[in-house]
Amino acid sequence: MSKQKNVKKILVTGGAGFIGSNFTRWMLSSDCPSNNKYEIVVLDALTYAGNLGNLKGLESTNSFEFVKGDIRDEVLINNLLKAGEISAIVHFAAESHVDRSIVDPLSFVRTNVEGTQVLLHAARMNKLEKFIHISTDEVYGSLGPTGSFVETTPLDPSSAYSASKAASDLLALAAYRTHGQHVCVTRCTNNYGPYQFPEKLIPLFINNALNDKPLPLYGNGKNIRSWLYVDDHSDAILRVLENGRAGEVYNIGGSSSAEIENKDVTVKILKELGKPSTLIRHVEDRLGHDLRYSVDYTKIKQELGWEPKVSFDDGIKKTIAWYLANNDWSKSVLSGEYLNFYDLNYSARLKKAAN
Ligand code: NAD
Ligand code: DAU
Repeated sequence: MSKQKNVKKILVTGGAGFIGSNFTRWMLSSDCPSNNKYEIVVLDALTYAGNLGNLKGLESTNSFEFVKGDIRDEVLINNLLKAGEISAIVHFAAESHVDRSIVDPLSFVRTNVEGTQVLLHAARMNKLEKFIHISTDEVYGSLGPTGSFVETTPLDPSSAYSASKAASDLLALAAYRTHGQHVCVTRCTNNYGPYQFPEKLIPLFINNALNDKPLPLYGNGKNIRSWLYVDDHSDAILRVLENGRAGEVYNIGGSSSAEIENKDVTVKILKELGKPSTLIRHVEDRLGHDLRYSVDYTKIKQELGWEPKVSFDDGIKKTIAWYLANNDWSKSVLSGEYLNFYDLNYSARLKKAAN
């Protein structure tokens, strides 16, 4: 890939994962209003959650390149940045699953905290223009039945996942305060859509229902998440990349009608697939399970003109249609490490519930 004039080259870390791959595809597609303005280098360690199949079809695109590597590898990162061609980093790479952070917290600290600091430092030393740190609404902790998170809500994370993301947010904001580095932090609510690894609620339940396997609903199923279709997230990130103010946090949220109890999400999936509600199993709750997320996205709406476009009803239909049409992709990921974690987390809960 050789850099074209007037085209910016950006490094997308974690671009072989769920949101990073959707972002890369969207940025290089005609859906993106700036699709001719960027070239993308994806850097990804291809952990259990990263899959080159998520980027299939882009290999032959001139404006795309893939590099396999770890964000903690300082030599590799400096080599990538020192040529001076890359102008910005959009940083998605992370350990991202709350249930895994309950059993293996250290890997979350290593990747999410140490990895982010390595990237921030290398970006500054190599004089990159911008660093967009992709974070999560989970850093704010849990809400009760009312209210929404705003950007100034105090950080109060519940899991090693969200605590490690909160630490990485603070490192990013410290780089701005100490060095004046152009850093923006985005905190988004739950995403769903194509290519999501089936350890997360929506793809797990779609896959299990398709295979007539039980759906392990944690606790009473009344926890609420605010759902955002992944392309809406990509649109928000592009706006922050192009016009976000340095040192600022931007919340990114679903619409109020997309704030749904887990049991209702489950019923919608079963209904759409024509599967019976007898597949639902109430199982042991997640430790430290956050009750409710709701994100106030007034700031990004007022400053950058962003709001969600895809309703949950439309988005879930599109998502289910994608899983139905991409059985090969599901087969390729429903193996190996996936099965180990499935046994440890989901089968164990299902067995207990059956006794
Ligand atoms: P994911 O687990 O699907 O993908 C993570 C990617 O990072 C994988 O491709 C993996 O191989 C890569 N990776 C992990 N460790 C790495 C390392 N040390 N070096 C290089 N690459 C590494 O995650 P996702 O759901 O796509 O989330 C992406 C980002 O968005 C994360 O930072 C997450 O905290 C944030 N986020 C996710 C959601 C959501 O609903 N999924 C919502 C808000 C924010
Ligand atoms: O809010 C943003 C966050 O959303 C991101 O930062 C995380 O990376 C992402 O994984 C997601 O976190 P959640 O914990 O909300 O997502 P998950 O899909 O794991 O769970 C969604 C809800 O469903 C949660 O209340 C737990 C519940 N659940 C989940 C699974 C996997 C079940 O009831 N059963 C399950 O088997």
